[in-house]
Amino acid sequence: MKDKFVLVGVTGGIAAYKAAEVVSRLRKLGADVHVVMTKEAAQFIAPLTLQSLSANPVHVEMFAEPKLWNVEHIALAERAEAAVVAPATANIIAKLAVGLADDLLSTVLLALRSPLFLAPAMNHWMYHHPATQENLKRLRERSVHLIGPAAGFQACGTDGDGRMSEPPEIVEELERFFRGRQLLKGKKALVTAGGTQEPLDPVRYIGNRSSGRMGYAIAQALQEAGAETVLVSGPTSLEPLSQVEHVPVMTALQMRDQVLKRFPETDIVIKAAAVADYRPAVQSEQKIKKQGEGEILHLELIPNPDILAELGRSKTRQVLVGFAAETEELIKHAQDKMLRKNVDLLVANDVTRPGAGFGSPTNIVSFLFPDGRRIDLPQQDKIEIARKLVQEIAVLLGVKGVKEEI
Ligand code: PMT
Repeated sequence: MKDKFVLVGVTGGIAAYKAAEVVSRLRKLGADVHVVMTKEAAQFIAPLTLQSLSANPVHVEMFAEPKLWNVEHIALAERAEAAVVAPATANIIAKLAVGLADDLLSTVLLALRSPLFLAPAMNHWMYHHPATQENLKRLRERSVHLIGPAAGFQACGTDGDGRMSEPPEIVEELERFFRGRQLLKGKKALVTAGGTQEPLDPVRYIGNRSSGRMGYAIAQALQEAGAETVLVSGPTSLEPLSQVEHVPVMTALQMRDQVLKRFPETDIVIKAAAVADYRPAVQSEQKIKKQGEGEILHLELIPNPDILAELGRSKTRQVLVGFAAETEELIKHAQDKMLRKNVDLLVANDVTRPGAGFGSPTNIVSFLFPDGRRIDLPQQDKIEIARKLVQEIAVLLGVKGVKEEI
């Protein structure tokens, strides 16, 4: 954490006093800690306490005399390499979910481009209110890291989950993040995402239900791990990721061209895209007319090249990761694909399971390795799966210390 610019947000809950320990621990690890508090938080813990512990000015007021060289909220957001809000009340969570910026902290966080960690802390029933749960779900989908909450006795007298996680746990999570960020530094990665579209005529195509979420999450995790990342993406409704080179494609043939030409100088390739196995033999120049009543329209399809299999045949030093989207006999079919396509790691998902596969924010996957190892992961957000995948790739690349850590 040495010299890492860490922004600590503190909001108004009884757990605010624990922010002192968070700040102190981060500082002991060498981080450059900058605190932004809400006015409510300042009722629970004096800004001076956090100023002394962080050895930096504490920011509370939106329109105070600027302490930095730039517009303050932009300067803090720009310099932050990570931000953690501890405690994060139901209020700041709701504001973040809808993008409200009505005080210094929420404004800084809206301008933030680096990873955000939240340690929720609130009354058990506030935590379980559908509004809070929906807000947390939205934030998770935007790749915000949630730490806790923990369960136990609460200051309001209830007993249940909603307590802020303990400061050592919060700091450990940040440490893990910074360690992980360096894992693939200096490596070049390429990810494919989304489904391809194979045109039939000027307005119709053969496609599939891939949203791109899985592939985008992997690109983000690779970028977080320091890899220079290219994302070759079929059409999706997702926003391009910052600090990731975005290469939009439509068809399997276009995807193949973009992937193959980059392959020789790439260290890691992850093929999460749902590539059409077939394309129309003829692409009509005009919109295909409706046939006569009851008449059957026959389409002729020709096979698309199997990009992953081509990579598997020509790979030299690259780590190659494939996916298998199955609807029956998951492991058997996935193992077969792993061997046939000569990949180093295969991510198998049964796309018929609720909470898995196409379109879902979560997935349920198994990692299969050619040496027979297998890791089954429970249902979790695609970004969490992506981060685990990145760790396994680092192991395959022989990055020191990862194996012991995971
Ligand atoms: O995008 P989401 O909505 O988040 O959904 C995620 C997902 C379900 C698409 C993803 O988790 C997934 O399973 N991706 C692979 C989909 C797929 O096409 O699987 P497959 O079993 O048909 O193909 C096996 C592998 O070969 C895949 O890595 C695929 O990219 C690759 N392939 C397939 C055909 C082809 N012509 N060329 C290929 O490279």
